[in-house]
Amino acid sequence: MPEPRPRIHDTLRRLAALSDTPPERGVTREVYTPTYMRALDLLRAEMEAAGLRTRVDAMGNLIGHLEGTGDDLPRVATGSHFDTTLDAGAYDGVVGVLGGIEAIHVLQEKGITPRRGIDVIGLAGEEPRFGLGCLGSRTIMGQLGPSDAERLRDREGVTLAAALAAAGLDPTRMTEARVAPADLHAFIELHVEQGGTLVAGDRALGVVERVAAAHDLRVTLYGEATHSGATPMPGRRDALVGAAELVLEVQRLAQASSSGTTVGTVGVLHVRPGAANVVPGEVELVIDVRDSDLASREAVVAGLRRALDDIGARHGLRHEVETVQENTPGPCARLVVDAARAASLELGVEPLPMTSGAYHDTVSFLSGGVAGGMIFIPSEGGISHSPLEFTRAEHIDLGVGVLAGALARLAA
Ligand code: HGY
Ligand code: MN
Ligand code: MN
Repeated sequence: MPEPRPRIHDTLRRLAALSDTPPERGVTREVYTPTYMRALDLLRAEMEAAGLRTRVDAMGNLIGHLEGTGDDLPRVATGSHFDTTLDAGAYDGVVGVLGGIEAIHVLQEKGITPRRGIDVIGLAGEEPRFGLGCLGSRTIMGQLGPSDAERLRDREGVTLAAALAAAGLDPTRMTEARVAPADLHAFIELHVEQGGTLVAGDRALGVVERVAAAHDLRVTLYGEATHSGATPMPGRRDALVGAAELVLEVQRLAQASSSGTTVGTVGVLHVRPGAANVVPGEVELVIDVRDSDLASREAVVAGLRRALDDIGARHGLRHEVETVQENTPGPCARLVVDAARAASLELGVEPLPMTSGAYHDTVSFLSGGVAGGMIFIPSEGGISHSPLEFTRAEHIDLGVGVLAGALARLAA
């Protein structure tokens, strides 16, 4: 049994209370909001209590540094995000930030002083409040700049630039958060699985070999808004009827995909004008298509574009398609996979090699040329992005122990 780490469980509870929704609706803490900034202050205090030297970079990433004996060497980084999606759980992301801090306590308790410095990072904006995910890690890797901050908007129309400014950050200086890939020896992220593989296999821990990636499209269908009572059925150009057919086509194409692992979801749908007595003239929806197999994912996206043309012709609808995010699935770095695997075996646990269905900040570091990898611990019931998200204390304790062992190896 892993060594109990009571501190992390107490802090998890305190973080979960920093939410803009009541407890029955889970945790909602969107990036750069006042609630989020209070969570940043809480985490900064936890980092400093662990002896880390803290700073907040130009994108709002919270970074705690542990000096190594060779502190000018390329350093090791660990961490995750602490923003949440809507009505979410108390573990997604935060387990990796708090786990990194707790792993530093483990190293100190064991008298381990790393050769390479270690950064524990609370990464900003992993959830897609502005449509695109992984904002903090993308900026660190030089994949996001001020023009994106002006372009990206949330569901209220607030730009990323305005949200940064409201949080006291200067969007014109966000590129100062950039870190040269050569300065990072490795990035490792502890995260809850968010799916049901570990629980189904009654396994306590997984090491991620490959991370799936998303191709998200914002589709707007334009028909004709008319009186719902006075307009006969023939000749209507009802945008919602077209959207409904498209939603079912997302499901059908994903289920029929060649890889068998493609997933397709429509989680956002806006009907305009949205009155009971008006035939919908305009509908906007966001389609999320993911797979660890790129060809299979793109075949589904191509099928959706063809379906759009067919639906438009049959219902007299015009459409616009905007690519909201398009990431590349990829393998994790052997260096990190092997360090995590060795650390797990050292604690007597055979780790399960896994593919991540969710995307993570690790993908930004991998695509930036930094050796990245992940440790997964079970999500009870395979549930995540829900108030019912739950991970057992002993699995968190185990994840911390394996992360500490992996950091000790990577920073040696
Ligand atoms: O959507 C994702 O995969 C991540 O949990 N934000
Ligand atoms: Mn998430
Ligand atoms: Mn996450």
